[in-house]
Amino acid sequence: SRRVVLVPAAGSGSRVGAAIPKQYLPLAGRPLLAHTLDALIAHPDVDAVAVVISPDDQWFDGYDWPAALTVLRCGGATRADSVANGLGQLDLAADDWVLVHDAARVGISATALSRLIDTLDGDAVGGLLALPVPDTVKRGDADGRVGATLPRAGLWLAQTPQMFRAGLLQRALAAAPLAEITDEASAIERLGLAPRLVEGEAGNFKVTYPQDLTLAEALLAARSA
Ligand code: C5P
Repeated sequence: SRRVVLVPAAGSGSRVGAAIPKQYLPLAGRPLLAHTLDALIAHPDVDAVAVVISPDDQWFDGYDWPAALTVLRCGGATRADSVANGLGQLDLAADDWVLVHDAARVGISATALSRLIDTLDGDAVGGLLALPVPDTVKRGDADGRVGATLPRAGLWLAQTPQMFRAGLLQRALAAAPLAEITDEASAIERLGLAPRLVEGEAGNFKVTYPQDLTLAEALLAARSA
């Protein structure tokens, strides 16, 4: 079975506070998405990489992209819609692995990717990169005060890639209310299955806020040094 990476990049990136969607924000002179795609395409255990962009995307064609990239112009209203639409456009066997990776996680390393692929190789369900929550977790109340301190033992922050068999993932997304699904694993969980948690990396953070760009740039510079 093949390993196909699907990168949803059809978001508007409103939280990062720029007029341009965050996947196109310049990082070391190239769009953020280009760095993410390079890291994925370079991995020896990845057979194909496809990106999902919005049909209304006005930026993508203005840049150079790797020749090996499959471009799907079928982004939807939510991330889950974009993934479901993208899967529908790819010629996948039911037992092919699909690794869904956020465009904005530019720091994905070969080590983390290998750990995910190797750990899930014979897995019946699939799983995702994730990190144990390092901070104390508070639930806020309506007044902006602490309502409760939650025990953080057993809590993980979901990262990507999230890796599932194509047939299972398509079935899970078809059954899920896509507007409520913020990652692929939660769609799988709704089928009563338990995705495996594979230790990710702090460097595999999602560029979300403006200062994250500075952090990502420093990370890439340190890696290429
Ligand atoms: O907004 P957020 O950072 O959670 O988006 C996660 C990923 O999903 C990003 O790569 C974004 O481009 C993508 N996305 C998408 N289609 C949408 C919304 C988000 O492909 N409608």
